[in-house]
Amino acid sequence: MKKILDWKKYAEAARRVVAEGCVLVENKDNVLPLKKGTKVAVFGRIQHNYYKSGTGSGGMVNVSDIYGITDGLKNSARVKVDEELENVYLEWEKENPFEVGIGWGQEPWCQKEMPVSKELASDCASRDDAAVIIIGRTAGEDKDNLETEGSWYLTATEKEMIKNVSEAFEKTCIVFNTGNIVDMNFVKEFNVKSVLYAWQGGMVGGLGVSDILTGIESPSGKLTDTIACSIKDYPSSANFGSLKDNVYAEDIYVGYRYFESAAKDKVLYPFGFGLSYTDFEINAGDFEFDNSGNLPRVKFDVKVKNTGKVSGKEVVQIYVKQPQGKLGKPALVLADFKKTSLLKKGKTAKLNFEFDISRIRSFDDTGVTGNIDSFVCEEGTYEIFAGNSVRNISKIGEFTLDELIVIEKVSDALKPVVSFDRMKAVLDKNTNTISFENEKVDAAAPYQNRHRNENLSELDNFTERTDLDQDVLSVIKTLSDEELSCIVRGEGMGSPKVTAGTAAAFGGVSKSMNDKGIPCCCCTDGPSGIRMDSGAQAFSLPNGTCQACTFNPELVKDLYEFTGWEMVYNKIDILLGPGINLRRHPLNGRNFEYFSEDPYVTGVFATANILGLHSAGVTGSLKHFCCNNQEAGRWVSNSVVSARALREIYLPGFEMAVKNGADVIMTSYGSVNSMWTSGNYDLVTMILRKDWGFTGIVMTDWWAMTNDEGKEPVRFNIAQNVRAQNDLYMVVPDAAENSHNDNTLTALSAGELTRTELLRSAYNTVLFLKKSHAQARLENRDIEVIIKNRKKTAMDGATDKIEYFETYDGLSIPLDHVDTSRGKSYSFGIVTKDKHFYRMELVGKTGDNDLAQVNVSVSYNGVNVAVLCWNGTHGAYEAKGLTMDRPLSRNTVLNLYFAQSGLTLKEFKITKVKDNE
Ligand code: BGC
Repeated sequence: MKKILDWKKYAEAARRVVAEGCVLVENKDNVLPLKKGTKVAVFGRIQHNYYKSGTGSGGMVNVSDIYGITDGLKNSARVKVDEELENVYLEWEKENPFEVGIGWGQEPWCQKEMPVSKELASDCASRDDAAVIIIGRTAGEDKDNLETEGSWYLTATEKEMIKNVSEAFEKTCIVFNTGNIVDMNFVKEFNVKSVLYAWQGGMVGGLGVSDILTGIESPSGKLTDTIACSIKDYPSSANFGSLKDNVYAEDIYVGYRYFESAAKDKVLYPFGFGLSYTDFEINAGDFEFDNSGNLPRVKFDVKVKNTGKVSGKEVVQIYVKQPQGKLGKPALVLADFKKTSLLKKGKTAKLNFEFDISRIRSFDDTGVTGNIDSFVCEEGTYEIFAGNSVRNISKIGEFTLDELIVIEKVSDALKPVVSFDRMKAVLDKNTNTISFENEKVDAAAPYQNRHRNENLSELDNFTERTDLDQDVLSVIKTLSDEELSCIVRGEGMGSPKVTAGTAAAFGGVSKSMNDKGIPCCCCTDGPSGIRMDSGAQAFSLPNGTCQACTFNPELVKDLYEFTGWEMVYNKIDILLGPGINLRRHPLNGRNFEYFSEDPYVTGVFATANILGLHSAGVTGSLKHFCCNNQEAGRWVSNSVVSARALREIYLPGFEMAVKNGADVIMTSYGSVNSMWTSGNYDLVTMILRKDWGFTGIVMTDWWAMTNDEGKEPVRFNIAQNVRAQNDLYMVVPDAAENSHNDNTLTALSAGELTRTELLRSAYNTVLFLKKSHAQARLENRDIEVIIKNRKKTAMDGATDKIEYFETYDGLSIPLDHVDTSRGKSYSFGIVTKDKHFYRMELVGKTGDNDLAQVNVSVSYNGVNVAVLCWNGTHGAYEAKGLTMDRPLSRNTVLNLYFAQSGLTLKEFKITKVKDNE
């Protein structure tokens, strides 16, 4: 069977997502759209250095081209870009090149900006009609955004540019090419008229942004975060960044749940807000409350009329005001949203809504309502509002519950083991205002081992169970202990058993397992497209922020179907994404990958990603489960968080995606309530599998640490991962070698891990593999994907110019002159007349970051044979290498591709290990 993947249509789908994801937050005097024939002066160096994504694993997609915002404007026939000004920038950039930084987690979050004098600004204003100022920021893995100029704040040069340009031009629009929101106080300071958040839109991002700037499309994106007056106003600020115990004292009052309850005056731009080029009127239609079914439900419609002058789309958001009850509640909670289709001026759309009260459930983690560990809706009146931001709403109906309703009782899981104070909302009945008081959260006695031991008997006669897949059971029964220890180890990075340069291989990683019909599965990052550190190129996608701001999950799902087929083309089965951690604080470095401060929005877009990939028979791994809400100390920090905040805020995004079919999950690096998530029985078994019914696979994050209850965490504690039902430890160099001396088999013989627990994880994995493309590949029946309309990649011809070195016993080739910056490659040749077996090693050093992933992909005569990975070497040279399992050819060309900057190379060593008899 064949499938055509049309690259042109793929790019168009991404462009639409970018356009709909743009959020216009200011537009005084109708600065935008730029009218037909506008002469536009583009300021800001980002005009030539568009950020397609953030940094780290979520940004490492190699692309053939990047279309930035200036490219988009220049491609548009509607406007004319001032080339004289562009040339000024090009000249300046020669002396001030883009700074790539020194590798993993150490890229600068902002670039030096060209100073714009009053003279330059007014010179341009004398010949141009409007100005666009592009300001960029990146951020990413292993380092948070900073509360400094150049990250959260504008730099002095940027401010001066904004001031001078806004004063000289009547029409100035500031465009943010960022992953995340930034401080917005400059708007008042400089009387800025127009601001567009354009986010990081992937490789065709600039085309989508230009569709908005030039008015081809009217903006319809909405903020998925609250932009507060000051970074200090976010309620998690007091604890954000703590490296050891990070206390979630704000509890469920994250984002608008906090601001709308008791700090309305601290908001500059509310959650859900975004302007359009047209106007809409939102009116209530019929409203019905139906109490006859299992759970009471509401059914209503909302009419949206385009009362403005151009076509556009509007997002109708439904918020609920709940009775404060005994638990205390946020003033408003988002219960649903829908986007209209494109409405012509004067036209009206009717949007139908229907949901039951489980959408507005609260979690009782103390028993104050008499229903401990239960989702409940307390008695009282529920008011429903509709509007186009959390601030611009009107009441469309209400209903009353005469008594509390228990929605669901769940397990008594993952409670804090230390006591702390959390915020609780209290309503002043006289003034009808909410304020916060402290409520003590009690410490639970240790429970993780107890829960595992209490449930162990469920595994009796596991392989004889009739409710399980019989084919899978019959395969796993034949696995030896040795094979079982291999199936819980993922191999990587860059395992030669799967697509070159990818993050991991797992499943049938040995011939004996392949012979039993278990295929080897391939997974790679994610989320911003396919990461192949071999240098192979792929499509890079708009980031998570941009996707969610569309409030259009259907559009995002369609885009991910293309990505799915691209994965099939590249023989990749799991994309390591979407990243769906809650945006607890704006300074989290990886916010660009995530969707929102709201769990419902998060769940909707996680589902859209997964279902899109499922359309092509591949899937994504929801990550990072859970509470990866900051990058600082992400592998050591312990989130101290109440069961209520977990169940209402940090888990529902995962829960919704799981209940909608997500089948792979990656745990996070850190700890939640003193148990590292990779081996957290309550999280992975009690909540994920028992409460939510998940039957897929769980994997650790790369080289994650795991602790036994009450103990310090260590790497390669695979026994505890498996006990918790985390099926795959990611990653080891070779699963069969056990080069890290992990404890899988020793724990098994010591009786600390049962064979059945290993079998249970093997079952999860093999069941998943059974329906995968990997299985079809093993059986030579996979779909062939043909890509059309894609231009040739820049990797073509990378090995054209090479120097040859002759060897017999071995030799050392100095490589200290080699440029190892990200994206570069270096090729050289080896001539060996006698074709012996050799070991090859690269000697290099990196910095201090233990979790850095500085990867060099080694190709041997065009075939990738290894991806060598340096973590932090703290400045000491380390040799990484491989022993070839075949004699070296007489003439061998080796290509080194540097997937990430940050490595200083010393030499390449080749040593004979065996004669070729
Ligand atoms: C990141 C994950 C990523 C993995 C593999 C880790 O550093 O946290 O999100 O999928 O590396 O690259």
